Amino acid sequence: MCGIVGAVAERPITEILIEGLKRLEYRGYDSAGVALLDASGAISCIKREGKVESLVQAVKDQSPTGTTGIAHTRWATHGVPSERNAHPHQSGNRFSVVHNGIIENHQELRDSLTADDGYVFSSDTDTEVIVHLIHKLSADYPDLRSTVFAATQKLVGAYGMVVSDSESPSELVVARSGSPLVIGYGLGEHFVASDQLALLPVTRRFAVLEEGDVAQITKEAVNIIDATGEPVRRSIEESDITADAGGKAGYKHYMLKEIFEQPEAIRRTLQDRLIEGKVADNAFGNGSLKLFKNIKHVQIVACGTSYNAGMVARYWIEQHVGISCSVEIASEFRYRESFVHKDSLLVTLSQSGETADTLAALRLAKSLGYSASLTICNVETSSLVRESDLVYLMKAGPEIGVASTKAFTVQLAALLLLSKALCEAKKINQDFCAESAQALTSLPAQMERAFSLEQPIKELAEQFADKQHALFLGRGDQYPVAMEGALKLKEISYIHAEAYAAGELKHGPLALIDAEMPVVVVAPDNDLLDKLKSNIAEVRARGSVMYVFADSDDQFESEPGLDVVNMAHANHLIAPILFIIPLQFLSYYVALVKGTDVDQPRNLAKSVTVE
Ligand code: M6R
Repeated sequence: MCGIVGAVAERPITEILIEGLKRLEYRGYDSAGVALLDASGAISCIKREGKVESLVQAVKDQSPTGTTGIAHTRWATHGVPSERNAHPHQSGNRFSVVHNGIIENHQELRDSLTADDGYVFSSDTDTEVIVHLIHKLSADYPDLRSTVFAATQKLVGAYGMVVSDSESPSELVVARSGSPLVIGYGLGEHFVASDQLALLPVTRRFAVLEEGDVAQITKEAVNIIDATGEPVRRSIEESDITADAGGKAGYKHYMLKEIFEQPEAIRRTLQDRLIEGKVADNAFGNGSLKLFKNIKHVQIVACGTSYNAGMVARYWIEQHVGISCSVEIASEFRYRESFVHKDSLLVTLSQSGETADTLAALRLAKSLGYSASLTICNVETSSLVRESDLVYLMKAGPEIGVASTKAFTVQLAALLLLSKALCEAKKINQDFCAESAQALTSLPAQMERAFSLEQPIKELAEQFADKQHALFLGRGDQYPVAMEGALKLKEISYIHAEAYAAGELKHGPLALIDAEMPVVVVAPDNDLLDKLKSNIAEVRARGSVMYVFADSDDQFESEPGLDVVNMAHANHLIAPILFIIPLQFLSYYVALVKGTDVDQPRNLAKSVTVE
C-alpha cells in the first residue's frame, strides 16, 4: 500500500526521501512523488506515474533542493494511477499533503469545499480534500499543528498524513488515525515514515504515534498532542532491525531470499519459547498459561496467507487440544453478527499487524465478550500487537516480497506451539506435547533438507509456462497447504489457480479436468493417503497432467503425465510446514519463467491497510 517519508533537517534531504521511497517500494504502489521546501519556503513538487525510478530520473533532471520535505508512493484507491492523482497534493501554492488511508466522507467534503468555498480540485483522490480543508481552516488557527488537528476533527476514515506549509518551512505536521506512522529521531534532524524500514539508513531511534496523535516536527524537537489535544510523550525505542534488513543478500528476489530464511526464522521464533520440551510460561504473554487453562473455544481471524495458516491450526487444535476452533476471513467476520462461545480466545494472525480488516475484527471482538485476544504477528510496533491482550511475536525478520513465505511457516510453528501450550495449561495429551516438541525442534533442519527440491522443481516449472489454470488438491491439514500453494501461484505468476479438498472433486471440479489443466497434489504418507490415491486415480482417468508432492518412495511412481517429487518423510505434525516449501519454489520458478514482477506483483500491496 501507500508509503510515506518526511524529513526536517539542516542538510539537503532529497536523497534521504528518495532512498526512503525505494525502501518502501516493496509495499506495492503505482505512482510516486516528492515535495521539497527550501529555507525561503520555495516549493519543488515532482510526481510521476509508475516506479520510483521514473521519479528519480525527474528529480535528477530538475535537481530540486530542500531541507524540509515529504514523499509518497501511492497505491490507487480513489482515481486511476496517474501523475495528477499522485501525492503530494497541494492547496493555494502553500500546503502540501501526503496521505495513507481512505477518507470516507471525501465526497461530502469535496462538495462543500467546491460549492461553498470555491476550491478547484485537480485530482480524483480522496486525499485532496484534506489539503484544501487545511488551507481553508488555516485562517482560523494560529499555527500548522492546531490547523491540522482541527482538520482531523472533520475527517471520517483512516489516515496517516504529513503536511508541509511554505509559510512555515522549518516544520512538518503529522497525524495518525488508522494508518501507522513512526517518528525517527536524529541529531538535529527528525523524520517521519509509515514504516521504520524507510528510515534505517538515517536513524535507529523511533517513536510510534498512537491513534489520534498529531505532532509537529522540527529539526530541534517533536511536539505531540493526543486525540484530546493534550501534550503527550511517546516512548522512543531503539530498533533492532539492521539497515540492510531490506536487502536481497545476493538473491535475485526477496521472495527467494525469504524462502531460504525459513529455518532460521523458525529457530529464532522458537528460541526462549520452547525450553527443554516445554512451552515457556509467558511465551504467549503474561498470564497466558493461566488463561489458556479455561479456554474452551478458539476463534481465529485473518486474511490471505495468514488465513490459510489459521485453517491448518484448526486441525491441530480440534484434534490435539480437543476444543472447538473456528477460522474466519477477517473481512467477513467484521461485518456479521457471529456467535461467541463461552470462554473463547480470539486469535488474530498477521505478518504486518496492520491489515485493516484484521485490525477491525480485533476491535469489534473487544466488545463481543471474548475472554482475551491473542495476536501472532511479525511486527512489534504494529497496531495488532499494541491493541491485543496477548502477543506472540514471530521474529521472522522483515518480509519484503509481496508473496508471503516465511511468515506462513513461522505462523504455523507458532500455532503448533499454541496447541501445545493449550494442552500443557489444561494438563492433557502429554503424547502430543512430547511429539510436537520433538517435531518442532527438528523442523529447521528438515526444512533445510527440503531445499534440495529447488532444482527439480525449477525444471518442472517450465511445464506451467503456457498454462492458464491449475488445480491444487490436498486432504486434511494439507488442504489449507493446497490453498496456500494455489494462492502463491496465482498472485505471482498470474495463472488462475484453485485449491480443492480432494474429496470434493466429484462434486463439480472434475468437469474442468483435461490435459491443459495441471493438477498439483500434496500427498504425504498419512492416514488419508489411500483416500487421496483414489482421488488421484479419478483425475488420472480423465487425462490430466499431475504433479504429486510426496514423502514416501514406495507410494507413487512417475510415469507419463504424472510427475512425482519426493521429499524426506515428515512427521505428520509438521508435514504442513514442510510441504509448502516445494509449492513456494513452484510458484517462484513459474513466475520466473513467465517473467512477472515476482516481488511486486501487479495490483497487489504488501500490507493491506485499507478495506
Ligand atoms: O500482513 P497480513 O498477514 O495480515 O496480510 C494478510 C494478506 O494480505 C497476505 O497474507 C496476502 O494474502 C499475501 N500477499 C499472500 O502472499
